[in-house]
Amino acid sequence: MKSLPKKKFQETDINSQFQSAIQDLNLAPKIINFYSRYSELKNIENWIFNQNTRLISVLGTSGIGKTTLVKKFVDSNLQKFELIIWKSLKYPKSLPLLLNDLLQVCQEEVK
Ligand SMILES: Nc1ncnc2c1ncn2[C@@H]1O[C@H](COP(=O)(O)OP(=O)(O)OP(=O)(O)O)[C@@H](O)[C@H]1O
Ligand SMILES: [Mg+2]
Repeated sequence: MKSLPKKKFQETDINSQFQSAIQDLNLAPKIINFYSRYSELKNIENWIFNQNTRLISVLGTSGIGKTTLVKKFVDSNLQKFELIIWKSLKYPKSLPLLLNDLLQVCQEEVK
């Protein structure tokens, strides 16, 4: 039986460590090599942790490294989030089905 961490995410909790955080990263690629894009990584960290940005689009031509950058960010900051779910919208389900999937991940953790 698992339980959700009691502590809720707040701006002041930026350096908190979520020991029992929920992570659904089954569909995420494994990053073995990561070159050059440290300034982009810093930008994402700054937008999320300092500027409280809620939505970020990472855009660019195919193969330029968007997925790698985002997964590297996730790997580097796993314990700063209470909940992480990696989803591909390449072949999207309807919104109700997608929401159902997301909620199920949360519910499984509190059973
Ligand atoms: N910073 C990086 N260091 C090392 N390898 C990288 C880096 N960025 C990308 N790659 C490699 O380049 C390839 C393409 O990267 P990635 O899948 O992240 O691109 P993408 O922009 O998400 O592509 P797509 O638009 O097709 O989804 C992968 O094999 C990845 O390992
Ligand atoms: Mg990609």
